[in-house]
Amino acid sequence: MLNVPPPAFPAPRSQQRAAGSSRSKVPLKPGRSLMDWIRLTKSGKDLAGLKGRLIEVTEDELAKHNKKEDCWICIRGLVYNVTPYMEYHPGGEDELMQAAGTDGTDLFDQVHRWVNYESMLKECLVGRMALKPVAVPKEISSISEEKKQLNGMLPEKKLLGVSAKDLTPSYDWFQTDGLITVVIYTKQKDMNAELVIVDCQDKRLRGEIIVNEHSYVLEVDLDHEVEDFFINIAEKIGKVEIILKKKDNVHWKMLGQPLESHNTFIKRKNRGLFYRKCKLVSKTEVTHDTKLFCFMLPKSTCFQVPAGQHVYLKQIIAGTEVVKPYTPLLPFLPLNFKEPSCHDSANIYLMIKIYSCGLFTQALDHLQIGDCISISNPEGNFKKSQVQALEDLFFLAAGTGFTPMVKLLNFALTEVSSLRTAKLIFFNKTEDDILWRNQLEQLALKDERSSKGLDG
Ligand SMILES: Cc1cc2nc3c(=O)[nH]c(=O)nc-3n(C[C@H](O)[C@H](O)[C@H](O)COP(=O)(O)OP(=O)(O)OC[C@H]3O[C@@H](n4cnc5c(N)ncnc54)[C@H](O)[C@@H]3O)c2cc1C
Ligand code: HEM
Repeated sequence: MLNVPPPAFPAPRSQQRAAGSSRSKVPLKPGRSLMDWIRLTKSGKDLAGLKGRLIEVTEDELAKHNKKEDCWICIRGLVYNVTPYMEYHPGGEDELMQAAGTDGTDLFDQVHRWVNYESMLKECLVGRMALKPVAVPKEISSISEEKKQLNGMLPEKKLLGVSAKDLTPSYDWFQTDGLITVVIYTKQKDMNAELVIVDCQDKRLRGEIIVNEHSYVLEVDLDHEVEDFFINIAEKIGKVEIILKKKDNVHWKMLGQPLESHNTFIKRKNRGLFYRKCKLVSKTEVTHDTKLFCFMLPKSTCFQVPAGQHVYLKQIIAGTEVVKPYTPLLPFLPLNFKEPSCHDSANIYLMIKIYSCGLFTQALDHLQIGDCISISNPEGNFKKSQVQALEDLFFLAAGTGFTPMVKLLNFALTEVSSLRTAKLIFFNKTEDDILWRNQLEQLALKDERSSKGLDG
């Protein structure tokens, strides 16, 4: 009999591990699932270990709690006793221990900034870090001192580093009888609809503009209600207009009251995730365990998800917020590659594998048509320019890791004129698991540049 070693993936000395991608989930002991953790947090046990008190924690105090059996971690200024969470952490105890007794914010964000630790660790809260004087970060151009009322004047330029000042977008607004026009000068050439995200609901206007690694947000509690809005983008000069249709044709004295993130320009990764409720409009079987979900964005939201980017879905499960990332795709593989496919920006399509023991996907599968779920702004580092001038493109996908390939394939076949071949190597457990097998085969027949490999 062959002596087959137990599978190890990635292999111990593989490039994949060397590249640092060995970060992954670890097997947890029975009784240590997320649901078990949620139950423990609701049990009334004193998980923080302070009998309900909240304390102010100094750096010295934090540093003392750096052992597995006594571990505190600071995230965004709040300190948590993660000792009871240690065995429940899907990334394993050693990963969590890297931040023991320190400020783990950057590490946490690097691995999984979407994880809703505030909600999951509510019962482990020890207190706040004691304040010490801090220098104002140069990259942030928060105009928080701005006059409390936005009276239509351009905000004064604040003291910024020269480069940040040059790059910081600004805004202005004006009105006619029926319309309010908010103009954002992004100072970014090649502005396009994928870089503009607007939500306007119940008098609250939030516009976000992506400028490379940064995000500019305009966020206002409007002076009056609006009926509808539309967006104009002057791509070459980088001017974005959000045009609001007044509900009552009255004269507005001001645009409105600034909200927390108003007129800030910060790194994208430091911007909190913003969610809106989206309605489930259809759910179709793709394979025995995978479904295509279609969610409709509310009328009050306008954004597109660029190829290679994902969104976060948030549900409250047993009283705790749980967040997971998913990659929107097109509702089918476009088989006519003569023209770019018409963008259906009102709907978000997600192809999701339902795990029989999966906490999040089980809850998702129980949603009824018409139910709502929170969906975040798009996020991700992939840039189309990475494939813009390619001649031969290879896609490696396994299971639902196929989802990012759909928009990318579409982009490559429609907009990359240099493309000669596109090859997909698709790894699956069984043939029945192959997603959109028919469509892929049709595509390979129809477009001579595309072909696929099947691996059992
Ligand atoms: C950027 C990104 C994009 C993604 N896009 C998609 C997408 O388009 N479609 C898609 O379907 N998924 C996608 N995912 C994966 C998705 O976010 C979820 O991880 C997935 O849906 C599982 O959710 P769940 O909570 O239902 O399952 P989980 O509760 O995480 O369980 C999944 C399976 O793993 C097992 N398991 C869980 N924890 C452990 C552990 N510690 N040890 C051993 N086994 C364990 C469970 O028993 C179950 O069989 C994406 C992930 C990322 C990071
Ligand atoms: C700051 C140090 C931390 C490090 C280095 C770390 C590391 C990791 C790693 C490597 C994973 C596996 C990721 C994967 O499957 O791809 C993971 C998963 C996870 N971690 Fe952490 N973690 C840290 C802190 C925390 C904290 C404080 C929480 C509190 C809630 C947390 C909650 C989770 C959850 C819920 C997952 C599963 C994510 C998912 O796939 O849905 N982690 N972590």
